[in-house]
Amino acid sequence: MLARSALRSARSAGAAARNTASKTSSRAASTASSTAGGASSSWKANALPAGATAIAIGTTAWYYHLYGRNVDAMTPAEEGLHPTEYPWEHTKWHKTFDHQTLRRGFQVYREVCASCHSLARIPYRSLVGTMMTVDEAKAMAEENEYDTEPNDEGEIEKRPGKLSDYLPSPYKNDEAARAANNGALPPDLSLMTKARHGGCNYIFSLLTGYPEEPPAGAVVPEGLNFNPYFPGTGIAMARVLYDDLVEYEDETPASTSQMAKDVVEFLNWAAEPEMDERKKMGWKVLAVSSVLFALSVWVKRYKWAAIKSRKIVYNPPIKTPNLRKLGKPEEKS
Ligand code: HEC
Repeated sequence: MLARSALRSARSAGAAARNTASKTSSRAASTASSTAGGASSSWKANALPAGATAIAIGTTAWYYHLYGRNVDAMTPAEEGLHPTEYPWEHTKWHKTFDHQTLRRGFQVYREVCASCHSLARIPYRSLVGTMMTVDEAKAMAEENEYDTEPNDEGEIEKRPGKLSDYLPSPYKNDEAARAANNGALPPDLSLMTKARHGGCNYIFSLLTGYPEEPPAGAVVPEGLNFNPYFPGTGIAMARVLYDDLVEYEDETPASTSQMAKDVVEFLNWAAEPEMDERKKMGWKVLAVSSVLFALSVWVKRYKWAAIKSRKIVYNPPIKTPNLRKLGKPEEKS
């Protein structure tokens, strides 16, 4: 049967060849007199896609030229020293925050940084269960006073803080903060680890990177302090962390780098309080989806088994008149 169909297709191929031959010859004859016309029409046909391609490439290049590249306001030298990569335990993908560290870091924030920096996006309630008990957080909230809603006379009174209140800011407003800091604004630290290149590494390097004296030749403007990690190297914040500045309740030695590490991990928590939960959810997703994936592989193999294991066998009939005419395949090769 295969041989027969092969013969048939050979015949029809021959016919097709004959047909095309006659067609091309007739077309050649008809277009021979107008070769110029044919050439110009093919040029026109190519011009449109070529032009469109050129415009597309040009537009992309122009867009990239305008917006694609990084535009830096400062040279890398002015950008500040690149912070060292530290092996932060909590940033590993299967690790959580160390909650003992968070508690220590919050202590450093409260005792050192809170006199200048606000942490305005953190409510007392978020401290519960992450670094404090409910009672501890409530007691801490009650140490501060907050405005009440206006009463019937429209008076706003003071009430002790509640768990739903946010951490108080050291200054009433930005102007007051600037006035107290030689015109420099201590930024809010809630999202600081996300707001700076280098995140944790940068803040750790900044806090521990104040040299005893600025290097020879460095120009430090009046009222600023030299810190190689700060863009421009002149920072309005002086060195704030010194060994044994705070006394940890868990008796961890309070070296400068220990405090810096604790407060940086705490600030990372402040900026990403969902991290522990997110990583846990990631594990659940991996567990469920790997089971589902294995299941889907099995179902696929099951459904395809009939097709994949099917074997189509064709045994050509040996003795047919047409085949004899063609000669046996063994003789040919
Ligand atoms: C005496 C007040 C004061 C204290 C205390 C203080 N800071 Fe600052 N901090 C500042 C000021 C002022 C600036 C703004 C610096 C500038 O813009 O030059 C600043 C800036 C910063 C910045 C931003 C740097 C940048 O890249 O813009 C970080 C981060 C920071 N402080 C962290 C801390 C931490 C963490 C603590 C506590 C360990 C702390 N600060 C304690 C006054 C203070």
